[in-house]
Amino acid sequence: MEPFLSVADYERIAEERLEPGPWAYLAGGSGDEWTLRENRAAFARWTFRPRVLCDVSAVSTATTVLGTKIELPVVVAPVAYQQLYHPDGDCATARGAAAAGAGLAVSTFCTRSHEEIAAAAPGLMQWCQLYVFRDRGVTSEHLAEAVAAGCSAVVLTVDTPRLAQRERDLRIGFAVPSDLPLPYARAAIGDAAKNPADQFALLDDSVSWRDLEWIASEAKLPVVLKGVVTREDAETAVEHGAAAIVVSNHGGRQLDGAPATLDALPEVVDAIAGRAEIYLDGGIRRGTDVAKALALGARAVLAGRAPMFGLAAAGEDGVRHVLEILRDELTLALCLLGCTTPEEIGREHLQRAVS
Ligand SMILES: Cc1cc2nc3c(=O)[nH]c(=O)nc-3n(C[C@H](O)[C@H](O)[C@H](O)COP(=O)(O)O)c2cc1C
Repeated sequence: MEPFLSVADYERIAEERLEPGPWAYLAGGSGDEWTLRENRAAFARWTFRPRVLCDVSAVSTATTVLGTKIELPVVVAPVAYQQLYHPDGDCATARGAAAAGAGLAVSTFCTRSHEEIAAAAPGLMQWCQLYVFRDRGVTSEHLAEAVAAGCSAVVLTVDTPRLAQRERDLRIGFAVPSDLPLPYARAAIGDAAKNPADQFALLDDSVSWRDLEWIASEAKLPVVLKGVVTREDAETAVEHGAAAIVVSNHGGRQLDGAPATLDALPEVVDAIAGRAEIYLDGGIRRGTDVAKALALGARAVLAGRAPMFGLAAAGEDGVRHVLEILRDELTLALCLLGCTTPEEIGREHLQRAVS
C-alpha cells in the first residue's frame, strides 16, 4: 500500500471505504458547490513572500485559543453524525485530536456525549457546538451537560437557520440511520426524522442577536460565533459579547455564492482590530493553507473534512496522523518563511498571485 503522506491520500482512502451515502454527505456542498470550490481556490490566489537567514533552529507551532494552549493552531471543526465514519465516532476523533495536541469542537449532532468524549481524551480542549432547538429545554440540558463535562467554550453556529439543499445527498437518498446515537438531538427530533433536512427543521430559525446573551448566561462560558463572513456581523458579534468569531461558510454547505472564507477574512480581521479572536475554516487541506490563514490574521483554523478523512480511513490513528501532517507541513512552512512561531507570520509574508 502507498504511504499516507498528505491529507489527499486520506481523502482517497476515505472515499474507497465509505458507502456512497455517508461519502456524499461528507464531501458535498450546497447548490452548484461554487462556494465549496472557492474555499480551496482562494488559497491558490495568494503566494508566499519567504524570508531567509532568520535562525529557524527552534520552531514551534504552539499557540493559545481563548487562553488554552494547543500544540498546533488547529481545532477539529464540529462535524455531525461521526459514527457514520467510524464505529467509535466522536471518541476516536477526540483521542486523535488529543494525541496530536489539537482542540476539538463537538457537534450538537454528535454521536457520543461530552462526558464520554472527556473520559476518552482527558486533557483535551473541548468546545460545545450549539444549534438551538425550538424546544429550549433540550438546548438548556445540552449546555448543562457540556459545562459539567468541562467544555471551555460554546460555538454557536449562526449560518444554518435552515439547511441548504445538498443535491448529492438528495440524489443518492442519504438518510441518517434511526439507531445512530444522537445524545443532544434525539430528544428533539425523535426516531422518525431521517434526513438531515428534517432534523434541522426542528432547529429554531427565529434565533437572533438577543439570544446570544441567553446562551452566554446559561453556559457562563465564552461564546464563539461560527459562520460570519462580513464586517457588519463581526462588529455586531463583538458588541454582543462574542469572545471569538469563526469566519466560515460551513465548508461550502450553506449559502452557495457566499465568498471563500480566505477572501472574507481580511475584512473581518480589519473590522475587529484585536477585540476578539478570529479563526477561519473552509478548505484546510495543507499546512500551507493554515499558514496563509494565519498570515491574513486568523489566530487558528478549524478543519472539518480533513480529520474526517483520517477518521474514515484509519479511526483514531487517522485523525491523529492527519493533524500531525498539518502540523509538520505548518512547521516547514514557518521555517521556510523565516518564522519561529505562528504569531510571527503576517501579511508581509503573502502577496496576491499573478494570474
Ligand atoms: C459532514 C459535515 C458535517 C458538519 N456538521 C456540522 C455541525 O454539526 N455543526 C457545525 O457547526 N458545522 C458543521 N459542519 C461544518 C464544519 O464545522 C466546518 O465549518 C467545515 O467543515 C469547514 O470546512 P472543511 O470541511 O473544508 O474543513 C459540518 C461539515 C461537514 C463536512
